[in-house]
Amino acid sequence: MDSAKLELDGNTYELPVTVGTEGEVGVNIRKLRSESGAVTLDTGYGNTGSCESAITFIDGEKGVLRYRGYSIESLAQKSSFVEVCYLLIYGELPTSDQLEVFRHKLTYHSLLHEDMKKFFEGYPPSAHPMSVLSAMVSSLAAYYPDSDDPKVQELNIIRLIAKLKTIAAFSYKKSIGHPYMYPRNDLSYAADFMHMMFAVPAETYVMPELLTAALDILLILHADHEQNCSTSTVRMVGSSGADLFASISAGISALSGPLHGKANQEVILMLEQILHDGGDYKKYIAKAKDKDDPFRLMGFGHRVYKNFDPRARVIKKKADEVLSKLGIQDPLLDVAKELERTALEDDYFAERRLYPNVDFYSGILYRAMGIPTNMFTVMFSMGRMPGWIAQWLEMKKDPANRIHRPRQIYTGSQVREYKEISER
Ligand code: CMC
Repeated sequence: MDSAKLELDGNTYELPVTVGTEGEVGVNIRKLRSESGAVTLDTGYGNTGSCESAITFIDGEKGVLRYRGYSIESLAQKSSFVEVCYLLIYGELPTSDQLEVFRHKLTYHSLLHEDMKKFFEGYPPSAHPMSVLSAMVSSLAAYYPDSDDPKVQELNIIRLIAKLKTIAAFSYKKSIGHPYMYPRNDLSYAADFMHMMFAVPAETYVMPELLTAALDILLILHADHEQNCSTSTVRMVGSSGADLFASISAGISALSGPLHGKANQEVILMLEQILHDGGDYKKYIAKAKDKDDPFRLMGFGHRVYKNFDPRARVIKKKADEVLSKLGIQDPLLDVAKELERTALEDDYFAERRLYPNVDFYSGILYRAMGIPTNMFTVMFSMGRMPGWIAQWLEMKKDPANRIHRPRQIYTGSQVREYKEISER
């Protein structure tokens, strides 16, 4: 399959076709406008391939997700978040020496510049941690300037991953008025984050291994998801030549929307609302189906998955395991399971192929760890960081890359005469 033909206004145009390694077919319309004057119209880019990428593969029909060819299930079971960061950024799984060097770098770059602590003081305690996170990541550029030198670029990448957990934990400490806890070099990435979140100077804090391991899995499951809204934002901003920190900060802002990363927070708010409303989940299924009601079942549906989101399967199993081992009875988990069961039996959801997505059960696990609801999307950002970075790097290195600049179909007024205000 080398080309496709398009007939438009009596003329035939031959369009080259690109086929991916998993058989995905892309009709290349790059020259269509110069040859025919027409552009393609695809609001929300639901059927537009914006790049060629070798990082993540999703088969939404079958519910498959792989990073660099490795299934998400095997990575969640056998790997660690730091190893997955390496895999996404460098393209291959590390040897034990490479992993050790990488882990060491991530550990020894986790301190924030002391001046940056002052930034946190300026925010009200009620500030959403996603706004703080986005601003702080953008501010890193002021301390670690961009450079064309690949060594400096690599160091900035390390700094970003290493410092993100410190920024995230500091924003929480600030919101509850507690002293900041500095990173500890003897802890793993996940354990250090939990230490900075929950330790207080007067006491020794020990994070249960079960929860650290669960957090590591959550971070792995969120690490990349090809050209989603925030990743496309990172690529879009980066395509102008903007630096790493500016591009990723924009991605964090995109993730903060309730249809994207903030859905994990919204799921818990929805489940709490259902519980406080007497647990009548059927009422909420009916609301989600009612086209006159703006309510949507949060954590359900996906642009790409028309089957179970494979990440949701892993998380649901892990949530069951963690809660039962810790002896936690979370009524929200029961509501979530009933909601899922009822929705999956309902024609409305079946016809539209709406299944639970990654956000449906992740909040239940975060709650078990003691992470407050408004920090859930920050957790998503920590997980997604290596994916954003890998996609940004791939875009920078792609010889076909140029500034992202979509077209439009103009539907406004045709040319009009300006009238003086007295004549209107
Ligand atoms: N509850 C009720 N109806 C829904 C839902 C839902 N959660 N999701 C989609 N639909 C309906 C929608 O009303 C539409 O119906 P109709 O064909 O009758 O007009 C149909 O399903 C297709 O929906 P869409 O809005 O055209 O689909 P989309 O691909 O534009 O949106 C989505 C995808 C994820 C934004 C959407 O499913 C949604 O709003 N879900 C809830 C928010 C959510 O959980 N977001 C997290 C996504 S996964 C993590 C991430 O990537 O951030």
